[in-house]
Amino acid sequence: MRAIDHNTITDAALEQMSSTPDPRLKQIMESLVKHLHEFAREVDLTPDEWIQGIGFLTAVGQKCTPFRQEFILLSDTLGFSALINALHDKRAVEASTKSSLLGPFYREGSPEMKLGDCIVQSPRQQVVIYGQVTDADGKGVPNASVEIWQTDEDGAYDLQKQDGVEIPSMDMRGHFHADAEGKYYLRTVIPLGYMIPMDGPVGDMIRAQKRHGYRPSHIHFMIGAPGYRELATALYTAGDDHLESDTVFGVTDSLVIQVNKDDPNAPIKGMPSIHYDFQLAHAAKLGSGRVGADPSQITKTGA
Ligand code: BEZ
Ligand code: FE
Repeated sequence: MRAIDHNTITDAALEQMSSTPDPRLKQIMESLVKHLHEFAREVDLTPDEWIQGIGFLTAVGQKCTPFRQEFILLSDTLGFSALINALHDKRAVEASTKSSLLGPFYREGSPEMKLGDCIVQSPRQQVVIYGQVTDADGKGVPNASVEIWQTDEDGAYDLQKQDGVEIPSMDMRGHFHADAEGKYYLRTVIPLGYMIPMDGPVGDMIRAQKRHGYRPSHIHFMIGAPGYRELATALYTAGDDHLESDTVFGVTDSLVIQVNKDDPNAPIKGMPSIHYDFQLAHAAKLGSGRVGADPSQITKTGA
């Protein structure tokens, strides 16, 4: 029998878990236990504080529905999602557009649209976004899949505008395919920046930390093609007040876009335009290459 104390407990836990047959699961769980134990020792965590922590995590789980993923929000606001994205980008086999947060509002099965269509049902001031999906050498990726989703001009996603509706309809979303040269163009509106959902435990945490809770204006994209690594990213509007203090750390310089009033190359005249080329890296040999997950599927499968 060994004496369990605040130090020996770590080895005892690691020893018991050493029978894990899956090597990756073993590596992840061993490291998690080591860091978790070290964290408790470092802050000298009390039983009362840990019960409060468990209460917080329970409330995070209870807030989740198919259309509200509070755990993703927690991961985002702790900078963990941005860290996972940065590690994902570091693993890319060649140069590519940087990833940015998928966020909790991605939905699979957005409406199929033709190049040039507008993704917004009632737009006020339209803009055209255009560019090319290329590989690392700048060669167009024919027929690349381009999914887009965003808020409206008042800063609300379709899901937020239909809170409580059992099957919310889709707006400000679309699924396009680039042409044979990888070129795409579509119409939308400039979204307004907005506050992340603050009516749950993550909002309580943000208020306790005296953070503002805002995200700058942005447009999400998921770009893919067979043989390439899927790209989940977002473009951020230059000039937004919260570019430097995004609550979920999604902004990086190369993803900041300018709205152009008179770009002679824009494919639709008479409206402002945004030009952005996306670069895809080839898929690594191992792994699915898939990065997107519809949050509604997480609660459905319990995975
Ligand atoms: C978003 O981009 O929509 C988002 C990302 C993280 C947290 C909340 C919202
Ligand atoms: Fe968003």
